[in-house]
Amino acid sequence: MTTRRHVLTVLAAAPALTACGGEHLPDPTAAWRNPGAGEHDPRRFALAHAILAPNPHNTQPWLVTLEGDDGMTLYCDLTRRLPFTDPLDRQITIGCGAFVELYRLAARQLGFAPVVSPFPEGESSPRLDAKPVAHVALGARSNASTDPLFAHIAARRTNRNPYDTARVPHLADLRGLADAAYERGAEVEWATEPERVARLRGLIWRAFDREMHTPGALAETYGWLRFGHDEVVRHRDGLAVEGPLIGPAKFLAMFSRANMLNPNSEANKQALQQWRQKIDASPAFAWLSMQEDDDTPTGRLTAGMAYARMNLAATAAGLALHPWSQGLQEYREMADIRSALRIALQNGENFPHMLVRVGYADPVEPAARRGVDALFGNAAGRAQQSERD
Ligand SMILES: Cc1cc2nc3c(=O)[nH]c(=O)nc-3n(C[C@H](O)[C@H](O)[C@H](O)COP(=O)(O)O)c2cc1C
Repeated sequence: MTTRRHVLTVLAAAPALTACGGEHLPDPTAAWRNPGAGEHDPRRFALAHAILAPNPHNTQPWLVTLEGDDGMTLYCDLTRRLPFTDPLDRQITIGCGAFVELYRLAARQLGFAPVVSPFPEGESSPRLDAKPVAHVALGARSNASTDPLFAHIAARRTNRNPYDTARVPHLADLRGLADAAYERGAEVEWATEPERVARLRGLIWRAFDREMHTPGALAETYGWLRFGHDEVVRHRDGLAVEGPLIGPAKFLAMFSRANMLNPNSEANKQALQQWRQKIDASPAFAWLSMQEDDDTPTGRLTAGMAYARMNLAATAAGLALHPWSQGLQEYREMADIRSALRIALQNGENFPHMLVRVGYADPVEPAARRGVDALFGNAAGRAQQSERD
């Protein structure tokens, strides 16, 4: 018999997708299989890889134009930001940087020497606007060697499964993550010593709990949750809450807006318990920082490029990785925990952009993607975007 407890545990489950059985809608995970196959324009081949980038809440905040034979300009889709939890668009900019890095790796794989120009019409402040976030020219064909990280793009995941507490990542593998990110000027540090890990678990958990008790944050996340296969197939974005018991839970209205926005609802209490187990079982944490002076839009974009590389290096080493961003977020209700966490992570003038747990876990299914054509938006959407600014 389906118990209430069983139904609710799916809330904390890793986003898990099964292949699409929908008759008329595209498979939401098709983008991960042989990306770029059959594309004749090298930029579309590169874009087919870029859309597999990690990005906050899987909003896929990317719009693109192609110019001439070798230009690609990336814009932020301003409707796909997270204004409550990410008021400066830091995380969204990081997701744009990850996109650019995967584009670059794929272009290099085809023998080009891509040239990235961040914010070619100037940086926007304090938030992103309709100006381009980056321009990438394919550049000349070169004999430069390809980047081994390219091979891991389609296998990379954010892994929210439980981690094996007894297996601490090898130092050499953690150094591999740091080396990959350092190529973009970012520093990766880590904590594996039990006392420091325990202290970080405590702080990261306080931040998660605070977020779960902050109505604006809960409402924002709720808007990006996709309950069940049908919603995943329809949207092909957001955070999938999938599993065989979703149907009954939907039937019982457990995922009603009122329930999900109430921190004390049975659904959210159960979810908190499940997430607590995940944090308690984290064997190690790693964080990616840039120089404090680099906390500019360009610095955040660069941090995103570095994060993509770190995530790919983890995949290459067989390591699972999962960001816990709550404590780094810049909304008022998080301010005290954010200060404490920054002190706990502090290293000189470094400014932390990403904080992840890292370890060994069972694999997860890929997250949905909307596909390359969605990057071109539509004329109406673009007009609205420029009107807003
Ligand atoms: C800037 C940034 C912040 C993120 N923060 C979190 C987080 O706090 N919790 C989480 O579970 N995943 C987080 N993620 C992971 C994204 O949710 C994930 O990349 C997205 O859902 C797509 O899934 P994929 O990485 O498996 O392709 C973050 C990713 C980025 C780039």
